[in-house]
Amino acid sequence: MQIDIDSLFNVRGKVALVTGGSSGVGQLIATAFAANGVKVYIAGRKPDRLAAAVAEIGAHGECIALTADLSKMSEIERIAADLAAREPKLDILVNNAGASWSQDFEDYTEAGWDRVADLNLKTPFFLTQKLLPLLSAAGSADNFARVINLSSVAATVTGGNGFAYGPSKAGVEQLTRVLARDLGRHHITVNGISPGWFPSRMNAPLGEEAAQAWAENTPLGRLGTIEDMGGLAIFLCSRAGTYINGRTIITDGGETL
Ligand SMILES: NC(=O)c1ccc[n+]([C@@H]2O[C@H](COP(=O)([O-])OP(=O)(O)OC[C@H]3O[C@@H](n4cnc5c(N)ncnc54)[C@H](OP(=O)(O)O)[C@@H]3O)[C@@H](O)[C@H]2O)c1
Repeated sequence: MQIDIDSLFNVRGKVALVTGGSSGVGQLIATAFAANGVKVYIAGRKPDRLAAAVAEIGAHGECIALTADLSKMSEIERIAADLAAREPKLDILVNNAGASWSQDFEDYTEAGWDRVADLNLKTPFFLTQKLLPLLSAAGSADNFARVINLSSVAATVTGGNGFAYGPSKAGVEQLTRVLARDLGRHHITVNGISPGWFPSRMNAPLGEEAAQAWAENTPLGRLGTIEDMGGLAIFLCSRAGTYINGRTIITDGGETL
């Protein structure tokens, strides 16, 4: 029995890939991982953003950038091969890279729908599939590998004109359950995080007023922080979080109650 705080919550020495780790929620998770001894790979499309994030995250621990457009199958395969050439195992995969697209219903385009649905839902499935050899190499009966998929409170709450976004996230939550059921045999757990509002590039265009209104409607009276997001991600990847599987945990300060 090991129930001291370090045994329960230690993630030191693990290797993680955080997609979209060069901004917003992904950067919060990557920073919290690095600060606690995880070797973190971050992936994104734009090299300058990746370089800036590596400089910031690198101040807390080990961080390496991988440039890839993960909406493309060829890039998913390439990044999986690249990681396999660098690492014998992958302890943690955070499927965080995501997109939104807002347009009036009458004008909503197929390109907008596909951009959202492909990156938010299809990419987590195929990236997890292509990384299965590395994840299963990390997982054992005593120490499961972890997959975390980013959902959103928009999976269940309606509003706005980002028509593809909520349905893509509802799909992510069912994908989380489906994969959790299947991947246990490889000693991998699959869970989700469903954030309320954490300041990021994606929600910046909604404006300061909307952010403030959201904070005011939250029982905690504020938006999410790195402690909120990082703490939950570390918990899910630690010994303490092992028996949670197929669940998506809402972290929104109670905004959507
Ligand atoms: N922030 C929130 O309050 C909130 C709330 C609910 C859910 N979420 C979810 O959390 C996740 C992160 O959102 P965020 O708000 O942090 O967004 P963000 O600040 O816009 O960050 C998105 C990240 O994904 C990367 N990315 C975008 N398209 C990509 C592609 N095709 N291939 C590879 N990387 C790509 C971006 O880098 P490049 O642009 O350089 O590729 C960036 O690093 C998303 O899944 C989102 O739905 C966020």
